Amino acid sequence: MSLGRRKTELQKKRELIELGGGEKAIEKQKTMGKLTARERILALLDKNSFHEYDQFIQHDAHDFNMASKELPGDGVITGTGTLMGQPICIFAQDFTVAGGSLGIMHARKITKIMDHAIKMRVPLIGINDSGGARVQEGVNSLAGYGEIFFRNTKASGIIPQISVILGPCAGGAVYSPALTDFVFVVENISKMFITGPEVIKTVLGEEISMEALGGARTHSEITGNAHFFAESEQACFEQIKRLITYIPWNNTRRPLAFPPKQIDKKWNIDGIIPDDPKEPYDVRDVICALVDASEFLEVHEMWAKNIVVGFGRIKGETIGFVANQPNVLAGVLDVDSSDKAARFIRFCDAFNIPLVTLVDLPGYLPGVDQEHAGVIRHGAKLLYAYSEATVPKITVILRKAYGGGYIAMNSRHLGADFVFAWPNAEIAVMGPEGAANIIFKKEISESKNPDKTRQEKINEYKEKFANPFVAAGKGYIDAVIEPSETRHFLEHALEVSTHKFIPKIDRKHGIPPF
Ligand code: HXC
Repeated sequence: MSLGRRKTELQKKRELIELGGGEKAIEKQKTMGKLTARERILALLDKNSFHEYDQFIQHDAHDFNMASKELPGDGVITGTGTLMGQPICIFAQDFTVAGGSLGIMHARKITKIMDHAIKMRVPLIGINDSGGARVQEGVNSLAGYGEIFFRNTKASGIIPQISVILGPCAGGAVYSPALTDFVFVVENISKMFITGPEVIKTVLGEEISMEALGGARTHSEITGNAHFFAESEQACFEQIKRLITYIPWNNTRRPLAFPPKQIDKKWNIDGIIPDDPKEPYDVRDVICALVDASEFLEVHEMWAKNIVVGFGRIKGETIGFVANQPNVLAGVLDVDSSDKAARFIRFCDAFNIPLVTLVDLPGYLPGVDQEHAGVIRHGAKLLYAYSEATVPKITVILRKAYGGGYIAMNSRHLGADFVFAWPNAEIAVMGPEGAANIIFKKEISESKNPDKTRQEKINEYKEKFANPFVAAGKGYIDAVIEPSETRHFLEHALEVSTHKFIPKIDRKHGIPPF
């Protein structure tokens, strides 16, 4: 056989495999508004960078007439490539082949590329579009999932792991994305659930659509399982490309530095916070007034909106921002916002991204619902995450810092490296009104004019505590600064923290309040 003839044979074999489940199945995929697995990889990665492996893997299912079935690539495409110039490993489940269901060889392809990513210390991207464990393969499919979860856990904190849900992600399959760092979903396409609507109807008699149960909005707004929401697959790929520029290849590197850029002139930091301490504002305006080109990539934008987390750059270097959002519930901490911030802080700490915390909150959200939902346990995660983090940690108190909220939001006492406060900052055990009612209760009730006395006592308390100078006088705050000086102080604090070194504690690991 000539070399030319052999090439043609290979070409033919490749073409057959690259057709996945065949034209009819591809057509069905398209009518669902979805790209094929191969189109997704090519649309996401840098042009001509994708290299595929294990294309000729054969499935290993023998029961239920499976032995004679051809399952091209066993329903998953794996390989390496570059994304925004960074090397990555990738897999994409192919729903056109047996519903992208996971049999043992399908799982082995995934675990092989995962092992490769861990060994080569490069990010892993997994595109999920699958009916879950391949029912015909029984326990072998379950074994496959277990081996994936094991590697997700081993890889955690070593390489960034990104999950993209572009179809069903059903049953136990959901736990692989849940173990990764960032989950991307697309409207009308992503579906994540442990038990589907039919099971719920049979077992509980409750009717719910698949979209309401586990669609993209549900996971972006209610459960918090998804970190990024997009309206189309292409928009989702653009989000991934943006994210990858902010994060490093692995835990031994820093994110790539970009050329520093000016802050957009339309963001005037002096005019953002209203004079009335009760009036809300959008803390993202403050972030945009602090970061290069006023560009901020928000993570978990639609969930637990009372706290804002995300990435920006200062002098070209990636910074993780955590900020109370006075626009939503006055920026209080609660169960979900504590979880959201704690997870983000741990990601930044694992991947050498300095943290800047912007504080303006009245404390923790009171109420039976929160107490019973475990605000003690969840709130503790935030304290743990800040205390444990060894990356540079800088805090700016913008306005209110009351009670437990003051401590939890990266106070000096939890190991902040620098704490700055704006002149109008109020640092106290609670707001002046509440404080006056407690400590001057007797004077107020015995007064001939209780309202006047109350106001006097509120003013007295404000004078004493609702300012940054008492805390500054004790060294809990390093500098009281004008808003317009903030960027300069941050730049300098980050610069002098470049070589921050905290020796590792000799223990196997801590036990965070999971
Ligand atoms: C084998 C499967 C499959 C599966 C889908 N298919 N899911 N084959 N095992 N889990 C096959 C179908 O038989 C069909 O094959 C093809 O994929 C397309 O599926 P359709 O049902 O026609 O597609 P659609 O109508 O779009 O519905 C998609 C779906 C549905 C919602 C995902 O297929 C479904 O509900 N599947 C089962 C989901 C599920 O319960 N999975 C959990 C498994 S248990 P043909 O040959 O007809 O084209 C699990 C536990 C893991 O995952 C635990 C790990 C810890």
